[in-house]
Amino acid sequence: MSHDPASSRAQFNAHASKYAASEVHRHGPSLPVLLDYAAPNQRDRALDVATGTGNTAHALSPHVGEVVGLDLAEGMLAHARQRAQDDGHANASFVVGSAEDMPFPGDHFTLVTSRHAPHHFLNLDRFLAEAFRVLEGGGRLVIADQISPTPAVQLWMDRYQTLRDPSHHAQRTVEEWRELATAAGFVWTPHTLVPYRLDFAWWTAQSGCSPETVQRLRAHADALSETERQAAGLEYGGGALVAHHEQMMVVRLEKR
Ligand SMILES: C[S@@+](CC[C@H](N)C(=O)[O-])C[C@H]1O[C@@H](n2cnc3c(N)ncnc32)[C@H](O)[C@@H]1O
Repeated sequence: MSHDPASSRAQFNAHASKYAASEVHRHGPSLPVLLDYAAPNQRDRALDVATGTGNTAHALSPHVGEVVGLDLAEGMLAHARQRAQDDGHANASFVVGSAEDMPFPGDHFTLVTSRHAPHHFLNLDRFLAEAFRVLEGGGRLVIADQISPTPAVQLWMDRYQTLRDPSHHAQRTVEEWRELATAAGFVWTPHTLVPYRLDFAWWTAQSGCSPETVQRLRAHADALSETERQAAGLEYGGGALVAHHEQMMVVRLEKR
C-alpha cells in the first residue's frame, strides 16, 4: 500500500482529540512493556518518533533527562504540549517533522522509541537509518508496533487497515522487521508479542469511518473463509464482526 505523507497529517489532525482521549493509546498494554525494554534513566536524551499526542514521551518524561516528541501532525502535537503543561513535564518538548528525515544531528540521543506508528511510515528502512544516525553508540531503539502474523495474511490485513485509515501503509511480519533492522546496523534482542483486542465499533469510530466504509470493512471480512478469519484474528458474534485481535511486537534494537 502507498500514500502521501500528507495523508497521515490530514488523518491525524482531523482525529487528534479522539487519539488524545483514547485509552488504547494512553494506557494500552504495549506501553509498560516498551518502558521495561527501554530501561530509561536520568542520563537519557530520549526521542519519541511519531509521538502523536505524546503518550510515550509523557510516560518517559519522569525517568529521563529530556525527551523530544517528533510528529508530522501539528494537531496531535498541540495535545502533547498541553499535557506537558498540565502534568508539569518541563523536560518534554515537541517538534514537527518526519520519521524518515529527522531534524536532528547525528549521535544526539541515547534512546529512541516509536509506538503504534511505524506501520504508517512509507520507508521503514529510511526511519531505521535515521534512528541509527541520531542515536549515539550504545544507544537503543525500542519499537512497539502491530505486526502481521504471516506473509499470507499481510496483504488482506493491509487492505483492511487502509480501508479504515488511508494513512496506514504496511503492517510487517517480525521477520521483515528483523531483516530491515539488521540491515540498518542494529542488533536485534529478543522481542515479545503483546495481544490487543480492538472492538470494531470503537476502532472504526476512532478513525472517523463513514457508514459506507464500515460496510466495506464488513464485506472485506465476510469474504474470508472461517480458517482465514481465524488467521486474521477476526472475532465474530451473532454472525457479525465484533472485534479483531492484533499482536503488538515490542523489540529493543541496539546500536553497539
Ligand atoms: C497512532 S498515532 C501515534 C501513537 C503514539 N505514538 C502513542 O504512543 O500513542 C500515529 C502517529 O504517527 C504519525 N506519523 C505517521 N507517519 C509519520 C511520519 N512519517 N513521520 C512522523 N510522524 C508520522 C501520525 O501523525 C500520528 O500522530
